[in-house]
Amino acid sequence: TGGYVTYDPGFMNTANVQSAVTYIDGEAGILRYRGYPIEDLAKKASFVEVAYLLIYGELPTQQQLDDFDHMIRTHTMVHEDLKIFFSGFPRTAHPMPVLASAVSALSTFYSDSLDPHDEHEVEVSTIRLLSKVPTLAAYAFKKSKGEPMLYPQNDLNYAENFLRLCFGVPAEDYEVDPEIAEALNLLLILHADHEQNCSTSTVRLVGSSDANMFASVSAGINALYGPKHGGANEAVLNMLRSIQSEGISPEDFMEKVKNKEEGVRLMGFGHRVYKNYDPRARIVKATADKILRKMGGDDELLDIAMRLEDKALADDYFVERKLYPNVDFYTGLIYKAMGFPEQMFTVLFAIGRLPGWIAQWREMMLDPSTKIGRPRQVYTGETERRYPGVE
Ligand code: SDX
Repeated sequence: TGGYVTYDPGFMNTANVQSAVTYIDGEAGILRYRGYPIEDLAKKASFVEVAYLLIYGELPTQQQLDDFDHMIRTHTMVHEDLKIFFSGFPRTAHPMPVLASAVSALSTFYSDSLDPHDEHEVEVSTIRLLSKVPTLAAYAFKKSKGEPMLYPQNDLNYAENFLRLCFGVPAEDYEVDPEIAEALNLLLILHADHEQNCSTSTVRLVGSSDANMFASVSAGINALYGPKHGGANEAVLNMLRSIQSEGISPEDFMEKVKNKEEGVRLMGFGHRVYKNYDPRARIVKATADKILRKMGGDDELLDIAMRLEDKALADDYFVERKLYPNVDFYTGLIYKAMGFPEQMFTVLFAIGRLPGWIAQWREMMLDPSTKIGRPRQVYTGETERRYPGVE
């Protein structure tokens, strides 16, 4: 039980991982965190509350939530020496490799909390990652803008603190827009876990070697970076921008996709598991309208996105292949309206996915029956042959 990972020989994508964290029904478009439908959590919960639920398995009492939230708020600062770490990167560095490196580097400051089988040390690492990853992510963003880094503020909640670290400057006070913070809280909830996706499987496989939580999460960040996975939200914006700049109609673009010209895909569409509408995409789309109206987001790009969706949902090519919008199709438009550049979109996905990675890693590591993951293969190479001249 828990996280024992085995792979059918030669079929890398089939793994009978047992997990109690998240349930997905891809045909019915159902997503539940510890049994609670994503639609309920999206309406009522805070991201910190959802993080608690995923990690500890139950919704917190008010006292438990207050204590958990206080622990996170009061550990958001990082060691001053770690801030110097960022000066080693070029300003043009993509924030995802910067974040993955910084999370790995974080572990070098904490020799007291790296034992993956010590419950107390796992608890300390949990709080340290939840509280410090947004700070590191904001520092990566600040680095790319050539702006000074701010210190976190304990009187701000999770989303507010991150927004201020990203957009605040030392020269003046930064007022967090509560509607933006609320929208970010929702988007973080929608990304918080998703069963055994590529990055979570990476976190589990790395952790199964008894690598510490920081190293495992750093590996997960690198897996998420790929455009087929978390990088898709950035790829969607690039796709919409290219349609806009080339002046082609969404309809003409769809023909390119259907003809598979230069491997063009409709980014933000399709899913390994959902063969129905991704329930998260439905919630994001409703938020997109509200936020873009408020923020004066790029209506033209939203219009292109909605025309692409309308066309795809009515087109046999997509219907036959069960290709529907996934969580990444609309999120980029919202992040852009919030003021984030495309390169930060997948970083926001990583902050959201962090509690899921931690919950899945803990489920596996705190289960004594877990063995090291060891995928097998179907050998397709040469049969035995001898080196010339060897007797
Ligand atoms: C995430 O696993 C998770 O849970 C991931 C995630 C999470 O929360 O962790 O949900 C987050 O990663 C969402 C997915 C984001 N990626 C994208 O939006 C990139 C675009 N989508 C694809 O590249 C693709 O749909 C995948 C990778 C997501 C899923 O691919 P599959 O299920 O392996 O499908 P496939 O590659 O086997 O394709 C099946 C058919 C093919 O056509 P044929 O060869 O049969 O003619 O569908 C076509 C593909 O060409 N197809 C697409 C398409 N996705 C699949 N055609 C056009 N556009 C697309 N997006």
